[in-house]
Amino acid sequence: MQLFLDTTDTKVLADLAATGLVDGVTTNPSLIAKSGRNMLEVIAEICGIVEGPVSAEVSAMDTATMLAEGRKLAGLAPNVVVKVPLTREGLVATAEFAAEGIQTNVTLCFSASQALLAAKAGASYISPFIGRLDDHGAEGMDLIAEIRAIYDNYDFDTEILAASIRSSQHVKEAALAGADCATIPPDVFLALFKHPLTERGLQQFMADWKGTGQSIL
Ligand code: E4P
Repeated sequence: MQLFLDTTDTKVLADLAATGLVDGVTTNPSLIAKSGRNMLEVIAEICGIVEGPVSAEVSAMDTATMLAEGRKLAGLAPNVVVKVPLTREGLVATAEFAAEGIQTNVTLCFSASQALLAAKAGASYISPFIGRLDDHGAEGMDLIAEIRAIYDNYDFDTEILAASIRSSQHVKEAALAGADCATIPPDVFLALFKHPLTERGLQQFMADWKGTGQSIL
């Protein structure tokens, strides 16, 4: 399973990318706004930090402007993936981007039928928003399993990118449900390393080792 970071914080990204465990990055207009920076500069900087796919979202609502924006974003770096909203206009743009060889991430997916349309349009990635579905009273993770079954039934190549991830439990469940990737906030990424028994066990091992008075080096 590929792990992407959902962030525009380039300092945090550079630090976490050094683990070798970050496969890509996603951004959205809210994260760009939070960064307080120029979008084109941030995306170009992120593309210099990670080699994997970097999603950059269009801001237009109509197909023609989405196409113009997406082509400009795709020109920033070879690893840019153009993020397109799951609307009728967005899926028409997605099909055109596919014909032009531009990678797409169709975002704001909340149903399996939307995901089916995105795959038929030739999306490279589909982003079902798990946490927001949970907030809405639904079982977000069920959507991942439904999309997995549909894509497998018809051999669609579109990768399932579990989004709106709020916890390490979400990451585990998305992996079990067969998501190809998960995009996660930095604090959830850090939480993936941790287990209280690891910390307790390590403290004990270190205390016992100190008692031996030995040194490996
Ligand atoms: C992913 O592409 C989205 O940017 C992100 O996962 C949304 O997460 P949120 O629902 O926590 O804002």
